[in-house]
Amino acid sequence: MKVEGRPTRTIWVERPPADGQRGAVGIIDQTRLPHAFATESLETPEDAARAIRDMLVRGAPLIGITAAYGIALALHDDPSDARLREAHDLLLATRPTAVNLRWALEAMMHRLRQLPEAEREAAAWIAAGELADEDAEICRTIGVNGLPLIRDIAARKAGPVNILTHCNAGWLATVDWGTATAPVYQAHDSGIEVHVWVDETRPRNQGAALTAWELANHGVPHHVIADNTGGHLMQNGLVDMVIVGTDRTTANGDVCNKIGTYLKALAAHDNGVPFYVALPSPTIDFSLGSGRDIPIEERSPEEVTHIWGRTAQGDVTQVQITPDASPAVNYAFDVTPARLVTALITERGVVAADPAALAAMFPERAAA
Ligand code: MRU
Repeated sequence: MKVEGRPTRTIWVERPPADGQRGAVGIIDQTRLPHAFATESLETPEDAARAIRDMLVRGAPLIGITAAYGIALALHDDPSDARLREAHDLLLATRPTAVNLRWALEAMMHRLRQLPEAEREAAAWIAAGELADEDAEICRTIGVNGLPLIRDIAARKAGPVNILTHCNAGWLATVDWGTATAPVYQAHDSGIEVHVWVDETRPRNQGAALTAWELANHGVPHHVIADNTGGHLMQNGLVDMVIVGTDRTTANGDVCNKIGTYLKALAAHDNGVPFYVALPSPTIDFSLGSGRDIPIEERSPEEVTHIWGRTAQGDVTQVQITPDASPAVNYAFDVTPARLVTALITERGVVAADPAALAAMFPERAAA
């Protein structure tokens, strides 16, 4: 997607390793958005792990690709099996819920372990680059497959198609295009009138800070809404469809996504609003039969008790919004049962959120 008119990805090779010099990977520091566009260089696996843990990069697909580059960075000083395993374990421990992290690390280990040590570093950079390109292409295809769903609604009504989304499943959460936003960008670019309701997504405000910034950059009409607004909008016929992303979808079609997604699915169900989940196939965890088995990340209570913002003077600062004596808890994800999901939008097509349909669409993954 474009930032100030320049085609930009969320992660890129800043400097490939050459002549004994270590390589470097560039990322957008998403903790600085929307008030500043800042980039950072990652030079070690520890840098990559910190970027994932502290959410400079976030979103299931991008976490996976950053970890893949983290492996490549690890092999510069020491391409041994022990170092490979150490980097794998370091990166895998950064965030528990998004399964793309494990998927990308396993893909890297599978390719690298069988190579002689001298060949591993170069091969790792190629493999991570291929995973990044593959993610961008998968997301573009999710957009192509989701576009007819928006076009159908547009054909049946006057005015814009109103789409509600939660968190940031936009291009910032992936390498490019996004998952939930890919059909939106495709619709907008093909001249269909769309308007997006952007859930602010407390506590970290990925909707207000990131999705809104993306949509504004691309010129897509949108409004940011407080998280509790969606039900009211749906009751009043102001939402035509919901599209969200997911961090892990289990073999039975249960969808784990940012905390608050489940409540939107319940409201959509009660009001007859279609609830779609857009996902790349690496987000499907065929090893789990139910969303109840997904580890739910608990993050610092400070993300609930405090909030970041920009003052009228232009300083970006953090303030406390709760009493000193009140503790907080911070569950980062919830699970939406498959029965509340209208369909899943994948790179292979739109599929029912049920075990047989998923296994039929991805037989090689289901069998593995
Ligand atoms: O905690 P985050 O910001 O990493 O959570 C991201 C989300 O929940 C996204 O909706 C999900 O990863 C899908 S991203 C394509």
